[in-house]
Amino acid sequence: MTMPKSNPILHHLAIIMDGNGRWAEERGLPRVAGHQQGVRTVVEIVDECVRQKISCLTLFAFSSENWGRPQSEVETLMALLLEFLAAQRQRMLGDGVSLRVIGDRSRLSAEVQVALQKAEEETAAGSRLTLVLALSYGGRDELVRASRKIAQRVADGELEPDAIGPADFESSLDTAGLPDPDLLIRTSGELRISNFLLWQLAYAELYFVDAYWPDFGPPELRAALDSYRQRRRRFGLTAEQTAEGEGLSNSAS
Ligand code: FPP
Repeated sequence: MTMPKSNPILHHLAIIMDGNGRWAEERGLPRVAGHQQGVRTVVEIVDECVRQKISCLTLFAFSSENWGRPQSEVETLMALLLEFLAAQRQRMLGDGVSLRVIGDRSRLSAEVQVALQKAEEETAAGSRLTLVLALSYGGRDELVRASRKIAQRVADGELEPDAIGPADFESSLDTAGLPDPDLLIRTSGELRISNFLLWQLAYAELYFVDAYWPDFGPPELRAALDSYRQRRRRFGLTAEQTAEGEGLSNSAS
């Protein structure tokens, strides 16, 4: 049996944006300069995803563990997020980008929560790209919160324990309704998943690149997409079985 000729479709790209601090330190700049440059990269990469017709982009912008960073850095990151939301509002509306947030919002300040909700509501009609920001996000925390929702349904008599299946988790996760990521990119040479989308990345293709996030521009993204197009996804099946299924979306796999 020959291998499939068609390239796998990429619906959902997830990125761990790493290396802002090292980018700045190597230039003798404060870490904040790395984060500022990192936001410029976010804008370029969102644009490129729209051009590449990727329908969903998830960015790991702030992890549950990042709360442990010096307070000044946490405040800087939150200020940059607020600036980003204000500065990109028109562009998101014009480009058909809808914003969605995943993570434990209850830990974010009231000001940030309000700004995020406003941005989500204003951009809700955007149908070209769903930009998912993972904020105060941890994969284990998300799974714990999903488990509590399922346990509550059991306690309420809506669900039998034996009837719990993957779909109950999928619909209880913050990412409910989104396809699983097809490709995960991590910048800065680190070879870890770092508690990102633990459930959703089960069959994602992984791409690690040495460039720090501030140096990861559209050409670097296109190189990652080229690499993805060479992959032969099997979802645990044989090459023969997947030859027919190539190009199916994850939800069907
Ligand atoms: C990792 O670099 C990056 C972060 C912890 C934050 C990412 C945030 C941004 C790019 C800016 C805010 C985002 C948006 C969407 C407005 P690091 O600080 O861990 O780098 P290091 O490992 O070199 O220290």
